[in-house]
Amino acid sequence: MTTRPRILLIATGGTITGVAADRSRPSHYRAGRLAADALLAAVPELAGVADVTVRQPFSLDSCEMGPDHWLQITREVAAGMADNDITGVVVTHGTDTLEESAFFVDRLIEPCKPIVMTCAMRPANALSADGPSNLMRAFEAASTAALASLGTVVVANERIHAAAWLRKGDTLALDAFDRGGSCVGRCGPVEIDTRPRLPARAPGLLAGLARLPRVDVLWIGAGSSADLLSACLERGARGLVLALPGNGTLPAAWRSAAADAIARGVPVVRASRTGGGAVGAATDDTAMLFAAGRLGPPQARVALMLAIAAGLPARHFFD
Ligand code: SIN
Repeated sequence: MTTRPRILLIATGGTITGVAADRSRPSHYRAGRLAADALLAAVPELAGVADVTVRQPFSLDSCEMGPDHWLQITREVAAGMADNDITGVVVTHGTDTLEESAFFVDRLIEPCKPIVMTCAMRPANALSADGPSNLMRAFEAASTAALASLGTVVVANERIHAAAWLRKGDTLALDAFDRGGSCVGRCGPVEIDTRPRLPARAPGLLAGLARLPRVDVLWIGAGSSADLLSACLERGARGLVLALPGNGTLPAAWRSAAADAIARGVPVVRASRTGGGAVGAATDDTAMLFAAGRLGPPQARVALMLAIAAGLPARHFFD
């Protein structure tokens, strides 16, 4: 006898549970308005895929989330991993900071079953809502055991993305996640196209993790003042990510400011503001000043927060 899959749905808000005042104007809405039950009710076809256990720790616009929410989500996911009745986990989440949450979950959990995060670019009641099909695809993906080997994935717009490399590349388009090179497979039916080498994980870390240190991201414009970096240090930043032009090139004024940070024990990561590609290592990189590689600024920040919190070398989650 084959048992039906059981999916743990962890609903956290976002546009997928958003409601627009006018269904025909989907860019004007409030995120995180509907409960998980309403999400499920909108897709009766899910009953043909799996049974569902629902958790809704909070319902937020994801721009309101931070480290405490990442921890809460990750602990809910970990409970799903430990529960023998659960086949796979689906997390619904806002698109705006999905890069951070998905990366956080991915670094802290070595999955023994699929972990699939999903979202929507248009609110639940929009004429052209994308949430229902994303949710259906996420359930199918979470019922596909082979996906566990990819780590945490994000399903959106018929694509499967590696959480580690996820980049939101558009404010409104349905294919907002398709431009950053994170796609590893396709949906309906699930097909895995590539198995990327992912950054290091630290699954044992979750149990003792309570607070994450402040790490700031600075976006560097041409000729912008390095005073910004000093302000971050004065405010207690324990790590810095610089979203630099191009291939992470550090202007001279920022080079001396970075040296000041390093002298105070604050690591500095060279990321890129371009939104795509990897930042290559420089000959003068060190353990305290180094390239973000394929991690975009949001993930580089989370990686540094985790490394500092765990007392690991700053580069741990970058390699
Ligand atoms: C959010 O991130 O919660 C709002 C935006 C979205 O989900 O697309």
